Amino acid sequence: MKVGMFGMNNIMPTPYFIMYENKLIQNLKKLNELEEKSNIHILHTLKSFNQSSVLPIISAKLSGMSITSPKELEMAKNSHAQHIHLYAPAFTKSSLDNMLRHISTLSLNSLNQWKRFQTLPSSKGLRINPKLHLVIPKHCNPNLKASRLGVDYIEFLEQYHSNPKQFTTLEGLHFHALFQDKGEGLKLLFEHLNAHYQDVLPQLKWLNLGGGHDFTSLDYDVNLLINELNSFQTKYPKLKIYFEPGESVTKGCGDFVSSVLDIVTIDKLNIAILDTSIETHLLDVAIVQQKLKVKNTQEKPTPHLYELTGNSCLQGDIIGTYCFTEALNIGQRIVFEDMMPYTMVKMTEFNGMEKAGFYLH
Ligand SMILES: Cc1ncc(COP(=O)(O)O)c(C=O)c1O
Repeated sequence: MKVGMFGMNNIMPTPYFIMYENKLIQNLKKLNELEEKSNIHILHTLKSFNQSSVLPIISAKLSGMSITSPKELEMAKNSHAQHIHLYAPAFTKSSLDNMLRHISTLSLNSLNQWKRFQTLPSSKGLRINPKLHLVIPKHCNPNLKASRLGVDYIEFLEQYHSNPKQFTTLEGLHFHALFQDKGEGLKLLFEHLNAHYQDVLPQLKWLNLGGGHDFTSLDYDVNLLINELNSFQTKYPKLKIYFEPGESVTKGCGDFVSSVLDIVTIDKLNIAILDTSIETHLLDVAIVQQKLKVKNTQEKPTPHLYELTGNSCLQGDIIGTYCFTEALNIGQRIVFEDMMPYTMVKMTEFNGMEKAGFYLH
């Protein structure tokens, strides 16, 4: 739903997510400039954000979408995505058969999957795990030694060099190894590519350098990206280069708004119970265990310390403890900032709670 400008944050029933279109357009402009300046193709990763009313806006500005399933394929098609890249840790033959004619490129995740599907009609690639040494939270670090995500690069290179014929239909390589990277991780990834794939890259048509790039942050090192790309593209001018960021497409573009239902004080701790729950609207909080940004709070202690909690029956439904600049009241709205990527897409109806609304402003 698209809403007007006047005081909407006080009239819309909570809980809801609100996205600011002007901020999204700013991000898309930045990404679009990067595409043009450096001759790369940026695909929006649908699993990070998939509101149907907004996808056509994203689709109109970027080169396409990166998807993992038939449902995401429908969303990408409905929003008129140009290039559709498909990847999942494993496919069945029937799911691939149904999706192949609608997609542009496909990454398979293992040598088993490669053996089964290498002859299917599609521009096929393999996801390779470069096992980079990067400091990334464990739950979202694909570089872990025992990661199932992608073929270990040593195994791939051994196979490739021992029998290159098994890869005659290989058209691309896919590396998703970074997380909220400002440029240093990408430099490592290019070092890895330059060191190991001189024999493979000239045979390929495309290279997908995954997500995890913090492209839309002010402190992203754009010059480093452009320099690295320039020198790589000089060596491999025929290779089409794709990136598939998720988080950075909608980062900073919207909030989650909830209301205080009650305030109870236990052992001098003020506990505000909100009309939300981690399990229903904020699953990312539980999984990533990040501290959310809440409006009108500060790091420095204030007299108004509150534990923000959810309205489910789980004792662990605790969002976090925050120092507010003023005392909270029942009915007051609490605004969680920068909540667009990876939050809405994980909503559930646990405890019979309704999913939160979504407004585009
Ligand atoms: C294969 C793949 N590509 C791209 C992305 C998007 O990553 P990000 O949202 O960190 O940019 C993900 C996220 O999990 C992913 O698994």
